[in-house]
Amino acid sequence: MNTLSPLPIGSYTAPYPIVQGGMGIRVSGAGLAAAVANAGGIGVISAVGLGMNSPYFDIEEKNPKTRQTQFFRANRLALIDELRQARALSPRGILGVNIMVAARDYESLVQTAIENGVNLIFAGAGLPLNLPELTAHRPEVALVPIISSLRAAQVICKKWQRQYNRLPDAFVVENPQSAGGHLGAKAEELGDPAIAAETVIPALVQYLKETFEQPIPVIAAGGVCDRPSLLHALSLGASGVQIGTRFIPTEECDADLRYKEFHLHADPADIVLVPSPVGLPGRALRNAFVDRVNAGEPSGPKDQCFANCLQVCKFRDRRETYCILRALDRACRGDVENGLVFAGNSVGMSTRIQPVAEVIAELVAV
Ligand SMILES: Cc1cc2nc3c(=O)[nH]c(=O)nc-3n(C[C@H](O)[C@H](O)[C@H](O)COP(=O)(O)O)c2cc1C
Repeated sequence: MNTLSPLPIGSYTAPYPIVQGGMGIRVSGAGLAAAVANAGGIGVISAVGLGMNSPYFDIEEKNPKTRQTQFFRANRLALIDELRQARALSPRGILGVNIMVAARDYESLVQTAIENGVNLIFAGAGLPLNLPELTAHRPEVALVPIISSLRAAQVICKKWQRQYNRLPDAFVVENPQSAGGHLGAKAEELGDPAIAAETVIPALVQYLKETFEQPIPVIAAGGVCDRPSLLHALSLGASGVQIGTRFIPTEECDADLRYKEFHLHADPADIVLVPSPVGLPGRALRNAFVDRVNAGEPSGPKDQCFANCLQVCKFRDRRETYCILRALDRACRGDVENGLVFAGNSVGMSTRIQPVAEVIAELVAV
């Protein structure tokens, strides 16, 4: 029996209040997104760096200008492929794309997504202040900013309302204290109760209710991995949850089997913070790569900036940290010791690699 309410976002309603978090690079592609959508949730393709492991890109291209142009073109073409494949696998499912505002090809990926039938755009890693303008010709596409503070949500609502007469169709609130991937807070802020989901979600829900006539659902991300954690998130006032880590050890996850098994055999004691070239830290599984980075060792002579992919990048500008594209790509292709394996605090909840439908059935069962 299911007692959870469906999740309406814009003109779409997911039977279950479960959004699968976008996970780059190629951890959530067409396979995972379609499986989640088919099981009654919202499936999300991460658009970041899809061109890396695609037939459209040759990393050995010698001319840096040609290589860069080729990379951004490859990202676009690979996103089209993923969207087509996801739609073929899930003709009626609700499908979104997660796009990083901090990526230099953010605008081009937004255009590509909306021209290729996406239902929702999730935009994080920066404030998506001009997203309504970029998508004005496709008002049916729901727009969902990913934020970590009430303040960020207020800035977005005010700007969108004033400038575009539009409001977000939902917010994802990413809890930096538990979520996998890039965090919206500095390492030294992580213990602060002011950034906890228990503080931010009720405050945001109240602000949205008091300020706007139309309902704007809030989706809680970070640490949701089973029925109790899902119910806890809903008890804070969230209308739904976004889940990343728990969907990794699944049959349909798009990463290499070695990546899924690394996740499967890990437990919360393996979780570490790692600095990232974008500035704020990430949460990941400890491995040889992370140990090298945390010891301040160079990331290797072959790791050079090859695509100029981010607006701000310590590796490109100062040779600090590492090339995050290469690190995520290596991991996703199966080199789990020399790549970056993002994971949230709730890692280790699965006892075997399961079909997505089974994970969702477990989450929604009473
Ligand atoms: C492997 C991995 C990759 C991720 N990549 C992205 C990404 O590309 N963009 C993004 O906005 N969030 C990314 N995230 C965050 C997820 O979308 C999601 O919000 C988060 O995993 C929720 O926390 P949980 O892992 O505790 O479920 C990533 C998380 C993981 C574990």
